[in-house]
Amino acid sequence: MSLIVPQNSLSRRRFLMGSAGLATAAAAFRFPTPAIAQGAPLRVGFMLPYSGTFAKLGKFIDDGFRLHVEQQGGSLGGRRIEFVQVDDESKPESATDNMNRLIGRDKVDLVIGTVHSGVAMAMVKVARDTNTTLIIPNAGANEATGPMCAPQIFRTSFSNWQVCQPMGKVMFDAGHRNVVTISWRYAAGDQMTDAFKEGFTKAGGKVVDHLALPFPEVEFQALITRIATLKPDAVFAFFAGGGAVKFVKDYAAAGLNKSIPLYGAGFLTDGTIPAQGADATGVKTTLHYADDLDNPANKAFLAAFKAKTGQDGDIYAVQGFDAAALLAEGLKATKGDWSARKEALAAMRAAKIDSPRGPMSFNRAGNPVQDVYLREVRNGRNELVSIAGKAVDDPARGCRA
Ligand code: BEZ
Repeated sequence: MSLIVPQNSLSRRRFLMGSAGLATAAAAFRFPTPAIAQGAPLRVGFMLPYSGTFAKLGKFIDDGFRLHVEQQGGSLGGRRIEFVQVDDESKPESATDNMNRLIGRDKVDLVIGTVHSGVAMAMVKVARDTNTTLIIPNAGANEATGPMCAPQIFRTSFSNWQVCQPMGKVMFDAGHRNVVTISWRYAAGDQMTDAFKEGFTKAGGKVVDHLALPFPEVEFQALITRIATLKPDAVFAFFAGGGAVKFVKDYAAAGLNKSIPLYGAGFLTDGTIPAQGADATGVKTTLHYADDLDNPANKAFLAAFKAKTGQDGDIYAVQGFDAAALLAEGLKATKGDWSARKEALAAMRAAKIDSPRGPMSFNRAGNPVQDVYLREVRNGRNELVSIAGKAVDDPARGCRA
């Protein structure tokens, strides 16, 4: 396994900026799938946030993917793997250029990315236009496995709908009737709070207000004051990474955690508890992972991730690890020959992966079918409370695959 470009994101960005002309030219035509001779490494492009509020998420996806490859001795399905990285900075406006550079100049065979739904939407468009294989290891934009679905596009994470709709019934059953939702104002925030609302109103509850601020702002004070004034039965929130750390701490600092229970999509407390400390205790979330899932794959994964990085694994590391597991299924089917990509993609669609999250298969749009768990922060981790939805399948609205 070798690294092709500078690890440092700044030097990488400078490196890329020098080739703007090439990128423009590359964007103007459809890129063929590179014909790679057997034996040459498969070039995997990571397009992830290595800086900004989602930096830790990107790094854990990268670490999780590499862990899986290392466990297979640096190959997947017998094919050596090499990496090219780009820091997407969670900036949708740079996404098309970054993607075109990876494909057109760096000649990657496939792309792994990204975290932010807005960036992912631009990546999906390029992947469709250039017939490039894309595995999304986090971003939940419903469209990627909905109206924008394609045979070469997969997700090893979730759709924004999938992890939040089940929370509606959970919160109604817990006795909450009037709820305020709060999130960043962009695709993920809008779609997650909408999905929660769909489940909650179906159960009989009412969303009394939706509060939002632009991504990635973290000036929560005015919105927290508004929640205190509205006095809902509970709050449902979507924030992630550095923003989630600050929101949970600000909510507790205002004393609201004592009077208005805080719920959310699992990203509110995944990978963030070391920084949130006791302020996260008691927060309940839904997600397709819990730290204490009692299955052999999770135990082995957590031990291996800790040994590799010195850190506790989280959902982002799991999604990266599983992206490599999914690619391995395709490469195993073709004995490492990516020029037989059609066969590899069919094997990937049919894959059944024994993930640390539990069993994972894929629907016709390439989105995981998976259990969604209710978790509560106890003992400094996201502990399993119950299964909020068994084998939840995204409806793939608008997918014509
Ligand atoms: C998203 O933009 O889709 C997203 C970002 C962070 C965590 C979860 C989802």
